[in-house]
Amino acid sequence: MAPEEEAHPASENDEAPTHPRRSGAPERPGWAGEQTTSYASFSIEPLTPHLGAEVGDLDLSVPLDDAQLADLRQAFADWSVLVFRDQVLDREAHKRFGRYFGDLHSHPMNYARTGDADILIVKTTADSAYTAGDGWHTDVTCDEVPPLASALYITETPECGGGDTLYADMYLAYELLSPAMQHFLEGLTAVHDGAKPYVGAYKSTPPEGGYPCNEHPVVTVHPETGRKVLYVNSAFTTRIRGLRKWESEALLGSLYDHIATTPRLHARVEWRPNTLTLWDNRCTQHHAVWDYYPHSRYGERVSVVGDAPRGVAG
Ligand code: SIN
Repeated sequence: MAPEEEAHPASENDEAPTHPRRSGAPERPGWAGEQTTSYASFSIEPLTPHLGAEVGDLDLSVPLDDAQLADLRQAFADWSVLVFRDQVLDREAHKRFGRYFGDLHSHPMNYARTGDADILIVKTTADSAYTAGDGWHTDVTCDEVPPLASALYITETPECGGGDTLYADMYLAYELLSPAMQHFLEGLTAVHDGAKPYVGAYKSTPPEGGYPCNEHPVVTVHPETGRKVLYVNSAFTTRIRGLRKWESEALLGSLYDHIATTPRLHARVEWRPNTLTLWDNRCTQHHAVWDYYPHSRYGERVSVVGDAPRGVAG
């Protein structure tokens, strides 16, 4: 055995923590350190042990009362992705649901569209050149204050099936890194540029002055759970400040591979018509799978403005 291998046995460097969800759990009000499946106002069925849950027995077409809202916010902090089936919502009900979490966000690409600035149309047909979100990303991280949550209401699913959305747990993505890598990343910031997806991938014409471009910490702290999050995504993040270009590309490429190829990070939402899914952009990424060409899929999304992402140093 080579001396380096003796000094650094595989068990020291390669093993992931057995219970990564619990290992970093801070004692903070609002998040008990483990998820519960017991809420007074509705039933809940987890999609995976750590990410995503279906909520039953809650009608979102009527306003929620205070007790329901408190449970909803707790379930959102616990599960990060919440799926509501068989909801019949008009736009006002959809927006009211978004406003339970904050002010509504206007998408940068909506500047060129007529219609409701609070609603982002998510529509793919046989004529589409692309489908929005077909790659791992967090919504609109090019904004100085990116949306904390998005709520997508799908009313038309492809007749052949498909069109699922994958989600990744970015708490766990951080927790599965080695302590040395966690420590290194915590001191870094990265550039998130709207031109990368909106011009580079979607070929849209930018507004005067261009799409937003902002910097955020590479590791953020979720404002409600206090947990650390790996906060770079392949759609918007273009480079890590302070590193050489090749270093930045190699490191980002490795992190994107980690996010895309670690199955235990992932949950999958299979849509049915009249499903609303709410996700937390502060601690998840998602990927809309375009596997249904030439069939169609239609939905509308509202997003909610959050706070500027905060790093480990505050
Ligand atoms: C998105 O909001 O990124 C689109 C997600 C989807 O269509 O499933």
